[in-house]
Amino acid sequence: MPNLKFFSGESIPLEMHKVRMVQKINLHPVEKRMHCMSEAGFNTFLLKNLDIFLDMLTDSGVNAMSEKQYAAMLQADDSYAGSETYFRLEKVLQDIFGMKHFLPAHQGRACEHIIAKTIVKPGSVALMNYHFTTTKAHISLMGGTVEELINDEGLKIQSSNLFKGDMDTGKLAEAVKRLGKDKISFVRIEAGTNLVGGQPVSMANLREVSRICRSEGIKLIYDASLLTDNLYFIKIRDAEFKDTDIKDITREIASLTDIIYFSSRKLGAARGGGILTSDEELFVKMREMVPLYEGFLTYGGMSVREMEAMAVGLQESMDIDVISQTPIFVEALCNELQAKGIPVVTPPGGLGCHIDASEFCSHIPQTQYRAGALASAVFIAGGIRGMERGTMSEQRNEDGTERLAEMELLRLAFPKRVFTLSQVKYVADRIAWLFNNRNLIGGLEFIEEPKVLRFFFGRLKPVSNWPAILVQQFRKDFGDSL
Ligand code: F0G
Repeated sequence: MPNLKFFSGESIPLEMHKVRMVQKINLHPVEKRMHCMSEAGFNTFLLKNLDIFLDMLTDSGVNAMSEKQYAAMLQADDSYAGSETYFRLEKVLQDIFGMKHFLPAHQGRACEHIIAKTIVKPGSVALMNYHFTTTKAHISLMGGTVEELINDEGLKIQSSNLFKGDMDTGKLAEAVKRLGKDKISFVRIEAGTNLVGGQPVSMANLREVSRICRSEGIKLIYDASLLTDNLYFIKIRDAEFKDTDIKDITREIASLTDIIYFSSRKLGAARGGGILTSDEELFVKMREMVPLYEGFLTYGGMSVREMEAMAVGLQESMDIDVISQTPIFVEALCNELQAKGIPVVTPPGGLGCHIDASEFCSHIPQTQYRAGALASAVFIAGGIRGMERGTMSEQRNEDGTERLAEMELLRLAFPKRVFTLSQVKYVADRIAWLFNNRNLIGGLEFIEEPKVLRFFFGRLKPVSNWPAILVQQFRKDFGDSL
């Protein structure tokens, strides 16, 4: 958002773009919304897009693209090997990050697969500020484990710490001493820490983590999928960077790390992914995996059209007006909800607004998936699809017991430049209604539970007929309104 004052004194998030292509969306009556939720096994991943009013599941692959990105898609050079498109994208990436080599992969988790296969040995430990679901799954598949070293504030729902994604460098030094550097596969820092509420990592923290890694000879890997939100927060929240170009901030981040990888379904508003490094040895090892698992080195499983869009999208990501819209809308929704007494993660992060399901649904046992139940209830109440980020997203322990998540969050994601302010206000209104009726929300239990990444396609049922009671209450309060 530009530095712009309203005469009214109000601070209103102002869109720095205009809409030139639209998609019609449907808002079904509440009874049909309940039916759809039930058909989807009370798992928002299994809903059909046609039945959804506001899709706030994720920003992955659903960000609005610019006219320049669409135009670039037409100049894509389709060839199995040696495509001009690859060289254009490689040049943009080298220019933005200042790293030497680029390996293409079809999305973020494919990068994680290649990195884990190259570096993780059985019995090794990967140290990180916080895990992401697919990252951890790939490390586990290679026989490694994950240790999270996020600072204590990071796991508090409410905090005044502006960089809650920071790694506790004291814990890092302790872990290196305790484990010994040979047992550590790598250290990983995730920008815009996804599972704790899209919280940024400060430059000061990255500098210190990098210093420790370099002095010990441990590789530092940076997950840049949520880089743009993190860049915005470094510029806005850290006085040192107030006058620094977004690109210079990006360059410094890259200079502190050994490998950068990203999902460009998020970064660059396209669909694909990539790995960057200047480390020759790692590059040669990882390169072997690309043709084996992804595709030839000059497309890596991506469509060349997406690669052209990515090249333009990455350049546009260096523009504060482009990257600010998600964080300012997240903040706007968080402020509306907080004003109504609804518990959200603070300070507002990037990616989406995160509602604290532990407090919202404190009457539901954690083993009955509070955040999952809240996600179902929000869909019934407003046709709004969010994502459970709590115990349902965890994997059971070896002995079959539940691994209870440290945080039970409902994430309402803001795909970049997709929604309008009236839609934000609608979301706040329906959630406020639900909050007043929160005691009507009940728990869920699995009826089909996959072993790996169960949250994607597991099916559940309500433990009572609470969805029908919620619908009755909606009708009572809203009459014949949608
Ligand atoms: N790393 C982070 C921090 C992510 O947020 C994601 C995806 C990935 C890696 C994997 O990338 O989806 O392209 O394979 N996050 C999505 C989300 C799925 O909805 O938050 P991918």
